Amino acid sequence: MPLVTSKEMFEKAQKGGYAIGAFNVNNMEIIQGIVEAATEERAPLILQVSSGARKYANQTYLVKLIEAAIIESGLPICLHLDHGDSFELCKSCVDGGFTSVMIDASHHSFDENIKITKQVVEYAHDHGVVVEAELGRLAGIEDAINVSAKDSSYTDPDQVQEFVQKTDVDSLAIAIGTSHGAYKFKPGTPVALRFDILEEVSRRLPGFPIVLHGASSVPQELVAQINKYGGNMPGAQGVPEDMLRKAASMAVCKINIDSDLRMAVTATIRKYFYENPAHFDPRQYLGPARSAVKEVVKHKLINVLGCAGKA
Ligand code: G3H
Ligand code: 13P
Ligand code: ZN
Repeated sequence: MPLVTSKEMFEKAQKGGYAIGAFNVNNMEIIQGIVEAATEERAPLILQVSSGARKYANQTYLVKLIEAAIIESGLPICLHLDHGDSFELCKSCVDGGFTSVMIDASHHSFDENIKITKQVVEYAHDHGVVVEAELGRLAGIEDAINVSAKDSSYTDPDQVQEFVQKTDVDSLAIAIGTSHGAYKFKPGTPVALRFDILEEVSRRLPGFPIVLHGASSVPQELVAQINKYGGNMPGAQGVPEDMLRKAASMAVCKINIDSDLRMAVTATIRKYFYENPAHFDPRQYLGPARSAVKEVVKHKLINVLGCAGKA
């Protein structure tokens, strides 16, 4: 099976009231952990590459690793560019074999966002590639760009119809109160996501796939393990899983997860070196890190996203 776009995945997810997991990948072990979990759970999968991941690992290496994952797993896998910030970057990914790209021009004005998104959509659609865009702006850190809470903004439902009509985009990321990274909410304070905005957006765009970024739940056992073995992440707090399940049952078809995988890798390696200070074979700690990624992803597929068994 070749790489697929997310079109059919989203249609089925929308009808079935579940979401597809879109997991960020940066190296072989992370790809293998995710794909092993999805294979065992027969889950459709989106693997996404940020421009930072592309710089770190080299686009060709990641594409080839993901092609290998398809051969090994037989799963429908969509290869997606996460947070593309320019037409040129999106074009390069389309030309390099990606089946989906995100153009994130959400920091531009509404009209400029439409203009850039439309340009990407025209090129991508001509090449059989689908496009995600963003309206509204999430707080948090992505690719070393730190968006402060005061510069973030919720999506305005009044803008979504015009945006989708004018750009012909295939899916839309909206801002309802999640943020990138591990420090999303203050511990001890109630978490409020703007489900009213999600509801209003889906009323204006019936059946249209909505994407939720910043959706790591930051498991407290991983935070505790990192802190126990010499790390320092007090106050890390994510999106409660019941809220993710609720979003998945609504119009959200794609849920983006990166930080939880990073924490699984870090917690495992910290513990490993604490217990085995004399070891120096990377397979001895990257292997358990890969297993930890697999365990986190399995939990998401089965208990949070609801997409296990849907491939
Ligand atoms: O949304 C951002 C993702 O977590 C990717 O992070 O840009 O540091 O690779 P990155
Ligand atoms: P997290 O930082 O919550 O994992 O979000 C990842 C993301 O939105 C990637 O685009
Ligand atoms: Zn994101």
